[in-house]
Amino acid sequence: MFSKIFWVLFLFSLTCSACDDEQTKRTAAVATDPNLTVAPDGMAIFRQKCVICHGADGTLGLNGAKDLSQSVLPIEERINTITNGRKLMTPFGTILNPDEIKAVATYTQTLKK
Ligand code: HEC
Repeated sequence: MFSKIFWVLFLFSLTCSACDDEQTKRTAAVATDPNLTVAPDGMAIFRQKCVICHGADGTLGLNGAKDLSQSVLPIEERINTITNGRKLMTPFGTILNPDEIKAVATYTQTLKK
């Protein structure tokens, strides 16, 4: 009885001590090295998910999409529209994470003429 428990513990420590260490080191490296944390690329997300309706320069207007080169919407409202959708616009709250939504919202502001 006792020896069985001993073996389980022994095998557990054998299999896990090495990989655990590696994992911890890698996580620590990502958390502390600013070069390893990549901010989401708003332009890349826009080209991937938004050009179908808005066009690369924001003026396409397909499916009733607003002309983003004329939009004066504040950033919070853009984030809200992108997250929850509006009329025919897809809600992106389940497709993009909050950082990605913020990045693409910020990018749409650069389309203003
Ligand atoms: C299926 C088509 C479609 C797609 C895809 C789409 N949009 Fe839209 N978008 C719309 C429509 C339609 C509206 C206007 C809704 C309205 O009339 O109130 C809109 C409005 C907006 C607005 C508000 C503009 C304003 O001044 O009111 C923003 C910002 C916006 N879209 C950004 C995005 C971003 C960023 C993406 C990609 C993540 C995206 N859209 C993808 C159709 C789309």
